[in-house]
Amino acid sequence: MPRILITSGPTREYLDPVRFLTNGSSGRMGASLAEAVLAAGSVPVVVSGPVAVQYPVGAEVRPVQTTDEMLNACLELFPSCAGVIAAAAPCDYKPVQYSEQKLSKKNNGTDTSSFDFVHTPDILAVLGQIKQKHQWSIGFALETEYGKEHALEKLKRKNCDFIVLNEPAAVNSDVSSVQVFDKNGELRLSSQGGKQKLAERLLELTAAFQR
Ligand code: C5P
Repeated sequence: MPRILITSGPTREYLDPVRFLTNGSSGRMGASLAEAVLAAGSVPVVVSGPVAVQYPVGAEVRPVQTTDEMLNACLELFPSCAGVIAAAAPCDYKPVQYSEQKLSKKNNGTDTSSFDFVHTPDILAVLGQIKQKHQWSIGFALETEYGKEHALEKLKRKNCDFIVLNEPAAVNSDVSSVQVFDKNGELRLSSQGGKQKLAERLLELTAAFQR
């Protein structure tokens, strides 16, 4: 049975043992995609950041915390997969320094602290570089302006086959409004409504890669 890699949920970048950077990604899109992959007769291989959502029975789930961990898991699993759908919202920055001890307030909290951050790896872009001829990749682009333009720039830079353009309202929601573009900038799907329906329609689009 074909295996399909799905990245899902947020990642965490720790400043100290209890504090971290993250975002509001719920993993619902990843869970809906996993359901749709199973329904299409393939095996979902889900690399997921910390989420409350349940992935379906039958999905192979690899839990991770940081963007680096998500990348390493994807590098290990991608070669055995037909394609990847990158629905995760990985943290783009991580602190330069991690404090083994909990950072404590000094001077009754009147001190000012600053942190330096560096970029984390772009998982989808790395997978786009090592992608073989028989493999495909689909990315998401969440944009507030110049949607199509930004989405197509990301599709090109990350060497994707399709890009799913959505809006900030999709974060931590059951519904989403999306447009899917291919490499030629052609609109291949326009869908509004539940994430499950969207996941199924997205999966139908990947059927073309299987031929
Ligand atoms: O954050 P950005 O808009 O660049 O995300 C676009 C796509 O790239 C998404 O599919 C996201 O899952 C993926 N991505 C990634 N690794 C990152 C940042 C984004 O795989 N560090």
